Amino acid sequence: MMLISQMGYKLVDNLLTLQKTKIMLSKSIEKALNSQIKIEAESSQIYLAMACWAEVKGLEGIAGFMYKQSQEERDHMLKLIKFVNERGGHAQISELSSPHVTFGSFKEMFEELLSHEIFVSNSINELVHVTLQERDYATHNFLQWYVAEQIEEEAVARNILDKINLIGDDKGGLYLFDRDIEKLNVTTVADPTAQ
Ligand code: FEO
Repeated sequence: MMLISQMGYKLVDNLLTLQKTKIMLSKSIEKALNSQIKIEAESSQIYLAMACWAEVKGLEGIAGFMYKQSQEERDHMLKLIKFVNERGGHAQISELSSPHVTFGSFKEMFEELLSHEIFVSNSINELVHVTLQERDYATHNFLQWYVAEQIEEEAVARNILDKINLIGDDKGGLYLFDRDIEKLNVTTVADPTAQ
């Protein structure tokens, strides 16, 4: 009869074999995904800094929008972390660059938001390109969610900038914009609920 300890060893052995037979990420895809994890973490910090600046300027609506964006970016990061770890890689938590903490104006802040989202979209596109080169169709499929998300985030940022450009230096307009920003709803062709 097999001893309990022997059964335990056998179980561990089987689990290790199972781990080895999982479809592993290639080292280059793992490295590229880890770079994206850092970018999403930095995005979260960038929006957190924007939320703080808006909050101390008394614009609660814009601050609330930025806090929500910051949380979404953290969720983007966590989704990537889980994927890397579940595919046999090791998600790296690294040192982050410091975000800007003050801005010349709200227009300047939203311009930075848009240019950052364009940067993120380019980074995701490059990642998708690498997965095709390496024929990693599982990661390619996983990244399609990020492609759609970036279309939406860029559209929101452009929509906000259009409104800020219309408002110009009008303080009353900014007050109304701050009140209404939480209701901002942009539907893009990438949105599955779009008609
Ligand atoms: Fe997750 Fe807006 O980049």
